[in-house]
Amino acid sequence: MRGTFVIPAKPLYEGKAKSVYSSENPDELIVVFRNDMTAFNGVKHDQFTDKGRLNATASEFFMRMLETEGIPTHFVRMSAPDTMVVRRLEMIPLEVIVRNIAAGSMTKKYPVDEGTVLDRPVVTIDYKDDERGDPMINDDLILVFHILNAEELTKVKEMALKVNKVLRGFFDECGITLVDFKLEFGKSAGTIYLGDEISMDSMRLWDKVTGESLDKDVYRFDKGDVITAYRNVLKRIIPDAVV
Ligand SMILES: Nc1ncnc2c1ncn2[C@@H]1O[C@H](COP(=O)(O)OP(=O)(O)O)[C@@H](O)[C@H]1O
Ligand SMILES: [Mg+2]
Repeated sequence: MRGTFVIPAKPLYEGKAKSVYSSENPDELIVVFRNDMTAFNGVKHDQFTDKGRLNATASEFFMRMLETEGIPTHFVRMSAPDTMVVRRLEMIPLEVIVRNIAAGSMTKKYPVDEGTVLDRPVVTIDYKDDERGDPMINDDLILVFHILNAEELTKVKEMALKVNKVLRGFFDECGITLVDFKLEFGKSAGTIYLGDEISMDSMRLWDKVTGESLDKDVYRFDKGDVITAYRNVLKRIIPDAVV
């Protein structure tokens, strides 16, 4: 049991950090945020008590916020603190990344120093395929592979930049710099929805004053206690949250 649901014994899909189950409603899925933490395409793997709940809480908070800003999301409701009921989407196999400041893989691939403020937000897109190491893809390939049509591609980029605008302004007021983040989208009945998660696993966040990492980089690069960092973010974004 998870809230009001009896979770099927076998997940439809077991990802690196979440498990996806079918629900009694064919239009909905149940997503359980697990305590697994992975990095470097699964090479590094650990479990941290409470990690699933902390990420689920952040995801719920941001999906609700984005809905009020007019962005359709897959969020339906929470059925337990680590379990989200979502609209079932036909996922688009792309990782849509928005960057405000150079960091992470960008500074490895290109001659740009970590921390460089970009002249404007930049959208880059990776093809979501673990076996191929999520290679970067471009507009032409997305069209020629029929992953999206031109109108859908424009829409996805517009949505990603709108998400950036909303989140960036919000984090700024919380004393946090939104460096970059990754989104996944999916389709249902011809509409594009924001799917997956918006959490400390999928965003790069720096304390505005100290510059310290408050996201998965704490785990990737052994910068300290990752759960303390995730709790710190939640306390700052949802002051009355029980964390
Ligand atoms: N609304 C949705 N409908 C169907 N699939 C979804 C939805 N939201 C997210 N997913 C998919 O569920 C999986 C979530 O588990 P995760 O652990 O993140 O997997 P992965 O290791 O593939 O990133 C992802 O493959 C994601 O694309
Ligand atoms: Mg994932």
